[in-house]
Amino acid sequence: STSLRVGLIGVGTVGTGVWQLLARNRALLSARGGRAIALVAVATRSPERAAPLLATVPGVRLLADPLALATDPGVDVVLELAGGADAPLPWLLAAFAHGKHVVTANKALLARHGAQLAAAAARSGRTLAYEAAVAGAVPVVKTLREALAANRIDALEGILNGTSNFILTRMATHGASYAAALAEAQALGYAEADPTLDVGGQDAAHKLALLAAHAFGAPLREGAVHTEGITQLQPGDLTAAAHLGYAVRLLALARRVATVQGGQGLELRVHPALLPLAHPLAGVQGAHNGLLVQADAAGPLLLCGAGAGAQPTASAVLADLVDLARTGNGATPLPAFGTLPAGQAPLAPVP
Ligand code: HSE
Repeated sequence: STSLRVGLIGVGTVGTGVWQLLARNRALLSARGGRAIALVAVATRSPERAAPLLATVPGVRLLADPLALATDPGVDVVLELAGGADAPLPWLLAAFAHGKHVVTANKALLARHGAQLAAAAARSGRTLAYEAAVAGAVPVVKTLREALAANRIDALEGILNGTSNFILTRMATHGASYAAALAEAQALGYAEADPTLDVGGQDAAHKLALLAAHAFGAPLREGAVHTEGITQLQPGDLTAAAHLGYAVRLLALARRVATVQGGQGLELRVHPALLPLAHPLAGVQGAHNGLLVQADAAGPLLLCGAGAGAQPTASAVLADLVDLARTGNGATPLPAFGTLPAGQAPLAPVP
């Protein structure tokens, strides 16, 4: 059987984690995918970061232009780990136009352009996969789309930004300053290239929008999520909350609500919240993420684990690649984002 040929765009924290994990677990990845997963080409703006990869993986081609990689006939899957809400869009549209699958961890891109990318994937009969875009190693997309496929979802409550949660728990339990905790999160590879997206709540809002598309068929629409970050919190807020029996968490919430017109709408918000210490999400520490799903048949379901960082994110990226290795071309791709019954309008976000 022929190997699944992967072209990687971006060799940052996650890109480096992916090729390291690919090398370390090569045999079990091939066994589970039914064929080898081979990194064949890399496109990066910083060739010096690709040097260790090129030295250890024989035969990888280094390209300067991501668009050339996205249209390369020797690539089956484009793995986009460059980041940026807009720059990768033309590359990925070109990849679908050239019959390739796309795996991405880019939640900012998907929150803004996900509908267009999903339509391009559907037109070409290819897969758009993005488990790594939400909650790192925690399988939230697979859970909503596959494991809970029989359920009506009523609510999602999540901790979806590892950097903010790391800062909040460092401040509360180690007495760290905000600035020192943020610097540590950056050094550990948790934060975005622009960390204002983490602490401002936008990164969690991007992820909530993606999950709400799966759970409720909510359209991916810029500005639909009410968003507040953690930048206004003081250390005294955290100690006072702890004293009263609460933990402060950056909470992401999506739930069905009745509208004033008597219909159903969707509430979507991200903001700091006081959680009673007995709440399942109050125990989520450090860069971990958590998601509590309210589902009509399954009941409440809690997922938690490493939500950021090179290896946990690489775990989710490679799971998507194993899926593609197994199903390959010809299999019906899983639809990106939500699937609603025919004739049913998506829930509109309420202000
Ligand atoms: N910057 C993100 C976080 C990385 O801190 O959660 C994972 O998406």
